[in-house]
Parts: sequence; structure tokens; C-alpha cells
Amino acid sequence: AQEVTFYEAVGGEETFRRLVHRFYQGVAEDPLLRPLYPEEDLGPAEERLRLFLMQYWGGPHTYSMRRGHPRLRMRHVPFTIGLKERDAWLRHMRDALDEVALPPELDKMMWDYLTMAAHSLVNSPD
Ligand code: HEM
Repeated sequence: AQEVTFYEAVGGEETFRRLVHRFYQGVAEDPLLRPLYPEEDLGPAEERLRLFLMQYWGGPHTYSMRRGHPRLRMRHVPFTIGLKERDAWLRHMRDALDEVALPPELDKMMWDYLTMAAHSLVNSPD
């Protein structure tokens, strides 16, 4: 039996490229989130998130070949993430998902995962 991964079902790398690019356009303009990103060029951060999400959803494992185990909670410790930051992050992701316009059931799977993950990365009570 041939199993179609979520990665393939949403359109592969091109879809993740559009999603994460749109997300970072929002971050670039956000006065709360932009200062959290250590590098002036958001391009490398965009690539890391794109490769992570591609891998998570069944695409190539390029992320782990370059970065090792994701350890997302540990990697976010250097950044103060409270409820405001979490909600701003999710708002840009929601805008990006709306723009990419996945079929509703795939959109819901992606959104449920991102919401859960963003909640788990809050590390600073307001
Ligand atoms: C990295 C912020 C949620 C995945 C980063 C970085 C910041 C950040 C400032 C460093 C940028 C870089 O140089 O790569 C936030 C904030 C969040 C959030 C404020 C709000 C809750 C998430 C979620 C995911 C995620 C929900 C995954 C579903 C990643 C990944 C990296 C990263 C994969 C790169 C890790 C690495 O390889 O170094 N995040 N993040 N983040 N974030 Fe988040």
C-alpha cells in the first residue's frame, strides 16, 4: 500500500516554502517578535523553521542532518516567550495558513499541531 505523507498531500516543499516565507514577513514587521530574533537577516531562521516543519510532516530529514535532534523547548530557552509572544507567533502563522489555503482537514491538522507546539514553548509567565 502506498501511503501519502502529509508533506506530499499539502504539495511538498513548495507549500512549506510559501507558508514559512509568509510567516516571516509577518515576524519582520512585528515590534514584539522581531527583537527576539538574534540575527539581522531572518533568512537563516526561515530556512530552519521550513526544514523542521518539512521533516515533522514526513518530508526529507534535512533539518536533523544539519541541526541534530530538534529539542525545541531547549532551543527556545534563550528567548522570553510569554503569552503575548505566543499569540503573536500564532497570529502570523494563522495569516500564513490562510494565504496558503490548504484543504480544510489538512489546515486543521497543521493548525492543531502548531497551536499545541506554541503553547508548549511558553517559558515565561507574564
Ligand atoms: C527558532 C521564537 C514557536 C520552531 C526560534 C528562534 C526564535 C523563536 C527567536 C531563533 C531563530 C533562529 O535563529 O532560528 C519563537 C516564538 C514562538 C516560537 C516567540 C512562540 C511560541 C515555535 C514553534 C515551533 C518553532 C511552535 C515549531 C512548531 C522553531 C525552530 C527553530 C526556532 C525549528 C530553529 C531551531 C534551531 O535549529 O536552532 N524560534 N518560536 N518555534 N523555532 Fe521558534
